[in-house]
Order: sequence, then C-alpha cells, then structure tokens
Amino acid sequence: DKTPLLFQPIQLRGITLPNRIVVPPMCMYSAEEGFPTDFHMAHLGKFAIGGAGMVILEVTAVTRDGRITHGDLGIWDDEHAKKLAPLAAFLKSEGSVPAIQIGHSGRKGSMQRPWKGNGPLTPEDIAGGDTPWQPEAPSAVPLADGWLTPRELDLDDMKRLRGAFADATKRAVDAGFESVEIHCAHGYLLQTFLSPLGNFRTDAYGGDLQGRMRLSLEIAEDVREALPDNLPLFVRISAVDAIEGGWEMEDSLVFAKELKDRGVDVIDCSSGGQTPKGATNFKLNRSPGYQVPYAAEIRRDVGIMTQAVGLITDPHHAEEILQAGDADLIAIGREALYNPFWPRHAADAFRLDEDFETWPPQYGWWLDKRA
Ligand code: FNR
Repeated sequence: DKTPLLFQPIQLRGITLPNRIVVPPMCMYSAEEGFPTDFHMAHLGKFAIGGAGMVILEVTAVTRDGRITHGDLGIWDDEHAKKLAPLAAFLKSEGSVPAIQIGHSGRKGSMQRPWKGNGPLTPEDIAGGDTPWQPEAPSAVPLADGWLTPRELDLDDMKRLRGAFADATKRAVDAGFESVEIHCAHGYLLQTFLSPLGNFRTDAYGGDLQGRMRLSLEIAEDVREALPDNLPLFVRISAVDAIEGGWEMEDSLVFAKELKDRGVDVIDCSSGGQTPKGATNFKLNRSPGYQVPYAAEIRRDVGIMTQAVGLITDPHHAEEILQAGDADLIAIGREALYNPFWPRHAADAFRLDEDFETWPPQYGWWLDKRA
C-alpha cells in the first residue's frame, strides 16, 4: 500500500479511525455551567468537516469543582450528557470518531480564562460573576504565590472522585462518544498526584512512585470497567515535568506499563504543567515535534500505542514520525485552530484526493469543478 501511513485507517479495539490525524483536547472556556454552547458545535464541527480521523473534546470536568474556569465543559450530571450528544453525533456523521477528554483541574481550579489573565481570579473577575471555589488537590499547597490554597483530598473524597470518573465515562458513552481520554497531564489533579512537585502526602496515595500513581491507576481501572470493551481508552500524560526533582521519563515508562496492564490503549504524550510560572506549558517556545521522543520511547519500551503531540504542523513531518515508528497517531492542535482543514490539505500535499472525493459532497462537488 503506497498510501501514506497518515492516511491509512487504524483500528483501536472495535473502532476504526479513517486516518491517523487527531484533534487533541483544547479548552475553549466557552461553556455555561458546564453545558456546551453554539460555539462548541461550530468549533468542533469544523474539525470533522476538515477531515480529522478523531476529534477529542476539550477536558470536560467530572465534578463542578473539577473545572479550571467557569467556562469549562462539564459532565457531572446526566443533563450535560444530553447536551453533549449532538456534538458526538455531528462529528460521527462527518466521518470523525468522537472522543472526549475527562478530567479534574486540581489546584489549577477556579482560575481566570486565559485571555482574561490566565491567573487566579481577581476582585474584578469576582465582581463580574466568576465566584471562586476552593480547589482540591493531593496536598494543601498552592500552585504558586497568589493562587488559592487547595483543600487536601481525604480517602472518602478519592472514592467519590473515582465514582465521578466512572459516571462521567458512562455518560460519555451514552452521549455517543466512542473513546475516552483521562487527563493525567499539565499540572491538573491527577498529574499533581503523580508528581513529587505537587504530592506531599504520607498516606497510600503519596510518597513513592507506587503511591503517587495509585489514584490515576485506580481511575484508569474504573474508567476501563465503565467503558465497553470495543471502545479504546486514551490517557494523556506529562511525560516529564521538566523541572529539577520532578516526574521523569523513567517514571513515565513505569506508569505507561501499569496503564497498559489495566487495558489502556493509547498513551497521549505531552509534558509539563507542574510549573508555578504559568498555568500551562504550551506557550513555551519549542521546536517542531519536541515531544515526539517521549511518544517514541514509550511506544518502543512499553509496547503500547502512542499519540504524538506538540508543534507538528507539516504533513511530511507527521508522516515521518509514523514511518519511523515513533507514534501511532498524530495530534494537530493549534495548527488545527489556524487551519481546521489541515487533514484535507495534508491529503493534497500527498496528492491523494485531487478530485475532492473524500470531502463532504456539500463542498467537494463544487471544488472539483472550480478550475
Ligand atoms: C490545549 N491543550 C490541552 N490539553 C489537554 O490535555 N486538555 C485540554 O483541554 C487542553 N486545552 C488546550 C486549549 C488550547 C486553546 C490549546 C492551544 C491547547 C494542549 C493541546 O492539546 C496540545 O497538547 C498543545 O496545544 C500542543 O500541541 P500543538 O498545539 O502544538 O499541536
């Protein structure tokens, strides 16, 4: 088969992606009380019309306090699932596999939308209606000076949290999503449990690597159990904290192996987020494919499928990553915000569909007759 790997279908359990291009989760901070708005349909719909093999909805909070901002999507109630269902249905109708990332903000909860300052809520934000709440974390240590001090979760809280992840999974399946990704990255709750930079507990959920991994592994088991066997499970990790004394690549290898043993299908390899300098790592100036080595090492060492993400913008680069065996899936984030038709243009770069036959007929019929 001469078709580039990027455009060969790939099977994940009972689900087949038509190509290996994934739009990764990207928060739009445009929800209301966790409910999606028209913005979400327009935003996500473009990616499906644009030809992505899978579209993963932005991190969707499993509890109300698990939101990052007041604009986060939520799935803590059955009513949320009812409103998410049309999004899943539309993605599927255009040929993309609908997926959803579920998570909890941890000590980054109750903050500003990025474009409002990307920091803790100010008196002006609060006067404007963004009522703060106390974030929750493994330890009562704020992200940085000036941030809210989180409440330390106790064992009952963790039981509730596990239930919330399992319930969120069931709701997502009911809503029509065909894959779930657990957010274990970027300094949010689960990664703060994993990282020695955020977890100072002395009970079974802290201390050594086994203790710090415990909650994430339990949740992976619960989510796997709640997800039908034919649907694939992704876990997004921060492969490294990239801070002295933090989570290292060797920890990621152990974690990925444990996740694989619990029926996780794909490790989505990101990095960072545990930094007090900012709430996110994605603004840092990095080079193309800077996180690919993490996906490659985990794929080879653990023998599990991986998704590469981070400044992959050139279709030929994406193909090289797949050809090299460095990853199974390629996520296109900000470049898809810039160009939602990236997958279709990538197909053009390989001269795969000069007659626009794979485009939605509403567009393709016309484009073919353009010249
Ligand atoms: C993100 N990212 C992100 N990651 C995640 O795991 N869950 C999320 O909800 C979000 N939200 C989010 C919002 C926006 C606006 C951006 C730009 C990014 C990170 C994202 O999935 C991806 O890993 C990075 O953007 C790096 O990939 P690109 O953009 O270089 O292709």
